[in-house]
Amino acid sequence: MSLISTALVLLVPLGLYLYLLQSSRRRSNNPAAAVFPTKWPMLGMLPSLLANMYNFHEYSYLVLAGSGLNFNGDGPPGAGMRFFITCDPANIQHIFTTNYHNFPKGAEFAAIFDIMAGGLFTIDGELWHRRRVKFVGVISSPWFTDRVAAHCHDKVKDHLLPLLAHMASTGTSFDMQELMVRLMFDMTAMAVFGVDPGFLSLDMPPIDASIAMDTVMEVGFLRHTMPASLWKAMRWLNIGLERKLHEAKKVLHRFVVDTIERRKTTRENVGHDEDEEVVGDILSSYINDPDFADDDLLRATLINFMIAGRDTIGTTLPWIFYNLAQNPNIVSIIRNELSPIASHKVAHGMGAMVFEPEETKSLVYLRATLYETLRLYPPAHMERKTVVTDDIMPSGHEVHAGDAIFISLYSMGRMESLWGKDCLDFNPNRWLLEGSNKLKNVPSRKFLAFNSGPRVCMGKEIAVMQMKTIVAAVMWNFDVELVEGQSIQPKLSCLLQMKNGLIVKLKKREA
Ligand code: HEM
Repeated sequence: MSLISTALVLLVPLGLYLYLLQSSRRRSNNPAAAVFPTKWPMLGMLPSLLANMYNFHEYSYLVLAGSGLNFNGDGPPGAGMRFFITCDPANIQHIFTTNYHNFPKGAEFAAIFDIMAGGLFTIDGELWHRRRVKFVGVISSPWFTDRVAAHCHDKVKDHLLPLLAHMASTGTSFDMQELMVRLMFDMTAMAVFGVDPGFLSLDMPPIDASIAMDTVMEVGFLRHTMPASLWKAMRWLNIGLERKLHEAKKVLHRFVVDTIERRKTTRENVGHDEDEEVVGDILSSYINDPDFADDDLLRATLINFMIAGRDTIGTTLPWIFYNLAQNPNIVSIIRNELSPIASHKVAHGMGAMVFEPEETKSLVYLRATLYETLRLYPPAHMERKTVVTDDIMPSGHEVHAGDAIFISLYSMGRMESLWGKDCLDFNPNRWLLEGSNKLKNVPSRKFLAFNSGPRVCMGKEIAVMQMKTIVAAVMWNFDVELVEGQSIQPKLSCLLQMKNGLIVKLKKREA
């Protein structure tokens, strides 16, 4: 093929893609524009899907609600865009557990997140199993959980609460989402590298590495929406968002290399020998492992763990505060639950109360509040799987080898048929057994926020511990008010982050 015809083959679909995406953005103030996908000759459902992209979450929810929880779709013939989208618990049980071997993450998922190549999130089969077993050894050891808990407590006491007290005393409004992302970046880096980068501080230092992680998730999302040949062509040409991603990868790689270097220096200064098997962070368990001798693999693995912690909890916490700020009755119940613990404690400097992670373990209503947030606002709002051999879903839908399966967690949390008439209300009580303060057992095929089956999230209890400690401290010490006039909506990303942040004001509560 000549250069001109190659350019045409690449640029015509790219132009069409960008045009449809742009027209979708122009319609972003018109939710009524959502329509059931139309199948076009030659283009399949791609135009309809792109035209509704601005409203992706709501659109997927409407389509799934209107089609009985399941939907078969496709893009242009030959573009490898045939897909099945579902939020049906029976199908989820089949995909994630019963016939799990037929639904790996697949090569396309691994290519989309090439920055984590070889990391747990992107691999399948025997290799995945071996690496999962290794990480279980790390994450379940008491030295790790104790250390994470202690750092979480200290971070809240020494950094978060003083910063929030300053915001309250000066009456400054600020972006709670940005603050939570900074907090979780520091806490996750401490768990992964044993180094706290100090992003959560009053002078708000630049957070290039954190912004780069957001870019990975935003461009990852767009890669899911277009034929693989198109984004690969853009990567090859180094144009548009692929160029932005390329820069983001460089920033993240630099962050990992610098942070490993910083950790070595810190340990040398406190007298540790690098060859000595001192465990204190995730890196210690990987750096001398011959399986991870390859620098690229080690770097990808560490980035994977940063994403596992920062992205998920940092995305969930702002939604918790958003919901609590609108539900003072729920805040009162949480404070009542905390009250017996607080009555035995002495406040720290500036009269702030900090709860030990251990003390919040038994708080059932607080856990129900976290689950209720994750039901409506799951940070990983969409899962992707690939079909190995032709199969029939419990719902009767056929899927074929090579198809992509998308599981919409966002839609699943909002389905009346699954959660009842009040499915859109924020109500932690739905997680409690009637007339008791015990948690209901809700199966993971229906509440998928922490995944289900053999690949269930390995950090669930650590995440709950960290979120409880943070939410308890913020809600006990402050009233959180939303600043009026802001528009809260999810951004287009693999993460359910808020597009415009969450602008709040705080008032210090009297002891
Ligand atoms: C609100 C907090 C969290 C949520 C909602 C969450 C959710 C999830 C989800 C949905 C998956 C499946 C991802 C996929 O298949 O693509 C997953 C996997 C995983 N999570 Fe979490 N996660 C959270 C926190 C954490 C934390 C704090 C850690 C680490 C300490 C962690 C470690 C992992 C690991 C290692 C996997 C990979 C499991 C595998 O593929 O075998 N997660 N998590």
